[in-house]
Amino acid sequence: MNIGKHTFNSPVILAPMAGVTDSPFRKLCYQLGADLCVSEMITSEKRLWKTRKTQLRLNHEGEQGIRSVQIAGTDPLKLAEAARFNVKHGAQIIDINMGCPAKKICNVQAGSALLKNEPLVADILSSVVAAVEVPVTLKIRTGWDAQSKNALNIAKIAEDCGIQSLSVHGRTRADAYRGEAEYETIAAVKSAVSIPVIANGDITSPEKAKAVLEYTAADGLMIGRAAQGNPWIFKQIKHYLATNRLLTPPENEEVCLVLTEHLHNLYQLYGELSGVRIARKHIGWYIKDRYIKDRQVTESFRKHINQVDGANTQIKLITEFFNLQQPTLAA
Ligand SMILES: Cc1cc2nc3c(=O)[nH]c(=O)nc-3n(C[C@H](O)[C@H](O)[C@H](O)COP(=O)(O)O)c2cc1C
Repeated sequence: MNIGKHTFNSPVILAPMAGVTDSPFRKLCYQLGADLCVSEMITSEKRLWKTRKTQLRLNHEGEQGIRSVQIAGTDPLKLAEAARFNVKHGAQIIDINMGCPAKKICNVQAGSALLKNEPLVADILSSVVAAVEVPVTLKIRTGWDAQSKNALNIAKIAEDCGIQSLSVHGRTRADAYRGEAEYETIAAVKSAVSIPVIANGDITSPEKAKAVLEYTAADGLMIGRAAQGNPWIFKQIKHYLATNRLLTPPENEEVCLVLTEHLHNLYQLYGELSGVRIARKHIGWYIKDRYIKDRQVTESFRKHINQVDGANTQIKLITEFFNLQQPTLAA
């Protein structure tokens, strides 16, 4: 499949996750096999572009892979301006967010709330596509709620407006993250349009990835939460798709090395104080399902490390922890 001049073969893509897919995390995911990483969303509200939060999100320094930047908003002209602004700052693909269920976003009729207004969807997509030379992609849920699943209509609108690839999370907005993602709608979308379709939602293992790819006939897969604390999932899935064999999980030493690199990059981007705080949730994810035999030890370690405010101490504790643990990976 192609997104503009970028060619992929069954790509495994890192989903945009606000507060997670910042540049330190994207760097690691690219190193560990992701074909494409989508950045955290950037608001179309110009007055917020100068804030520290947006400035940090605009940072792509040292990133090796393709720079796909997600924008969020509701006004076609503002979104077009946001797209131009991000291309000027290095975006090579613009992704439009019509999938986010957060109240903060939906209350201003952005994110997945847009799915309820098909004419506005068409206006936004045409306006953004016309605004930039780089390819524009779209991310949606299957609809607003079970009674108004309109992913097929939206997909056709996207195709007509020149969208170059469509990611579909197999839940409605009303589902939030409850229940299980369904893939029937994604399969239906795939057979209804000729632009590339990317399947997303609850893809947590190489085996599930293969099953979803086969069931939906999608052109690629998008992984969100399963990559948290597990950036190895990209090469694990790709290896399984290519060989039907599972890669052995990373050894302690490697987990420690990757996590330590992640932490150093967080300190560098956010500064020591914020970096150490942001690192805590990532540390929690890295250790979460790895040491189930010693769940209590892991839990008391997590509590302990969450009290620490210095980068050196955080790194020292991590190194000691990994030297002591016997990995027992969750199935
Ligand atoms: C912490 C978090 C933040 C997210 N932020 C965004 C976002 O900024 N834009 C977006 O389109 N989706 C966002 N999502 C949704 C994910 O991209 C993805 O569609 C969803 O998590 C389902 O995929 P998964 O089951 O692989 O996690 C977010 C999800 C999580 C868990």
